[in-house]
This record gives sequence, structure tokens and C-alpha cells, in this order.
Amino acid sequence: MAETKPMILVTGGAGYIGSHAVLALQEAGYGVVVLDNLVYGHRELVEQELNATLIVGDTSDRPLLDQLFADYPIAAVMHFAAYAYVGESVTDPAKYYQNNVVGTLTLLDAMRGAGISCFVFSSTCATYGIPQTLPIPETHPQDPINPYGQTKLIVEKILDDYDHAYGMRSVRFRYFNAAGADPHGRLGEDHNPETHLIPLILDAALGRRDKIAIFGTDYPTPDGTCIRDYIHVTDLAAAHLLGIDYLLQGGKTEVFNLGNGNGFSVREVIAQVRQTTGRDVVAVECDRRPGDPPILVGSCEKAQKLLGWQPRYGDLGQIVAHAWQWHQKRHV
Ligand code: UFG
Repeated sequence: MAETKPMILVTGGAGYIGSHAVLALQEAGYGVVVLDNLVYGHRELVEQELNATLIVGDTSDRPLLDQLFADYPIAAVMHFAAYAYVGESVTDPAKYYQNNVVGTLTLLDAMRGAGISCFVFSSTCATYGIPQTLPIPETHPQDPINPYGQTKLIVEKILDDYDHAYGMRSVRFRYFNAAGADPHGRLGEDHNPETHLIPLILDAALGRRDKIAIFGTDYPTPDGTCIRDYIHVTDLAAAHLLGIDYLLQGGKTEVFNLGNGNGFSVREVIAQVRQTTGRDVVAVECDRRPGDPPILVGSCEKAQKLLGWQPRYGDLGQIVAHAWQWHQKRHV
């Protein structure tokens, strides 16, 4: 008889990375319940594409969480639900501290109440601030330069204290630049508003916008534009699955970078989109966007060694090809 795997609560499972994690959990045989307030998430992804149970609500709604934990035998929580617009976090920090910090605290306390002690957390390379060494190891000092990064760092610190005091074990994943889409075209990136580089260039390739702006051409990089470490969303989801397995098998609290360890400049990404799509994209050189570090590339050996994680779609051409496949389907 096939082994029955435990049930996992995925907060933010109607969002970009969360929905890919739900798919990975389902394919591995886990039961999944999604909690999402649908402010940025997509109901149809959960209910139609994934056919998963969706509870609509906030992580700061304690009565809702208590009911959810009473109704479903949840063994562990994967927590994606968060606001993640760096620029907005600077102009409206209250929104970010309320949702990303207070909402997470409420969730953690409801988990304590229900006796659930395994937590997988979406953290970010934005907790490092301006890198002092490259590639960035997990031991790099954390000094975020925007409220979004602060909220994620505060939760990391809360998780240390909750482990020490209450035995709540966690895996935190610090993502570099999530990109791409499900290789089979079932899921993909659909932010509104969209601020991320690859979907914006694809919009330009589709003629949905007339050009792409290059934010800054005077950085201390070989071609003057910012360098980022793009990681396929399906590889991120696979790491989360390994994180859940690790915690359910009794693993201790850990933190892992998730990236490919390769950097690509904005100009290189635009060139890749032109090559993959076979379409012209007009690029215009603009001023720097405030708060962008010149280079962010992660050292990701720890996840490979400790979790056995191996990115399958490390090639930028593949990442862009999968994003393009989804983008054409989604935006016809
Ligand atoms: N960029 C452009 N033009 C655009 C959009 C982006 O040139 O129209 C550039 C940015 O300046 C940056 C690179 O493309 O150099 C990537 O930008 P994204 O907005 O796609 O991604 P970020 O690196 O800013 O953000 C990502 C995550 C954040 C996280 C951050 C950590 O999306 O959640 O990494 O630095 F906080």
C-alpha cells in the first residue's frame, strides 16, 4: 500500500512561488491545505489548476487559524504569505510590518497552540543588504537596506527564539531571484503590478509594453548593469519539499540560500529573452532604481550538501523558455 504522507498548510499557496510548492507537495503525495487572502494570489490557480483546498483569510486571523488547525491534521507549515514589493515597503512600512511580522507571529502562536512544530519559511537575499563578499554565504552579516528585508530578518530572529524556547524547528530559505514557470505550463508568474525583470521583458516581447527600462548602466559590473542570480521557481519548490522532509524526519533548525550561484546582468537577461523568443525588445537606459545592490549572487552549496538539493533548471535559457511558455498562454 502507498504510504500516506502528512498534511501541510501552505500559506500564500495562491501566489507565484507558493503555488509551485503546492504542486511539488501534491506530486510527492502530501495532503495540502492552502491559506491565502487573495490580495495578490489567484483563486483559480488553487481551485482549478491545483485542485487543492483553499481557505481564504489572513495569517493574522487567530480564530480562523485555530479553526483551521482543529479541522485539518496539519503536520507542518510552509509560509509564503507576505508582501514583497521592496519599493512599497519603503513608502508604506506599516503594511509590511503588520502583514509580514505580526501576521507571521500570529501564525506561529496558533501553531504552538495546536502543537505543530515544523515551519518552512520564505526568507530572502534582501536580508543581507549590500554584500561584502561574493558569492554570499549563509554566514554573511545580515543588514537589510529596506523594510521588506527587515521584516524577513525579524522573522528569522523570532524563529531562533521560538526554537530555543518552544522547540519549534524551522528551515529558512533565502531566495535569490525567483524566475521561470512550471516546465509543463500549468503555473507561472502573474503579479499585479508586475515589477520583476523577466516578466516585464516578456511583456515587451509580446507587445504588451513598448519597451523595457534598464535601471542603471553605471554600476561597477562588466557591462554597467546589475547582476542577479536567477533561480527557477520549480527548483525553489523542490528545495521546499526537501525542507519539509528534513524537518519531519527530525532535522534541526537551519538556513539555506537558494540560487544557482551564477550571476547575469540586466543586459544579458534582455539578450536571452531576445534569443529565446526570437522577438525584438526595445531597451532604454534609465537611472538607477534606489536600493538595488550592484551584484547579488549566492553560494548555495549548503542546501546541496545538507538537503541533497540539485537545481534541475539552472540554465538561464531554460528559465526564460519556461517563463515565455507560460506568459504567452496567460497573456493571449
Ligand atoms: N530591472 C530593470 N528594469 C526593470 C525591472 C528590473 O532594469 O524594469 C533590474 C533591477 O534594477 C535589478 C534586476 O533588474 O537589477 C532584477 O530586478 P527585479 O525587480 O526582477 O528583482 P530584484 O532583484 O529587485 O528583487 C528580488 C526579489 C525581491 C528581493 C530582492 C532582493 O524580487 O523580493 O530580489 O534584492 F527582495
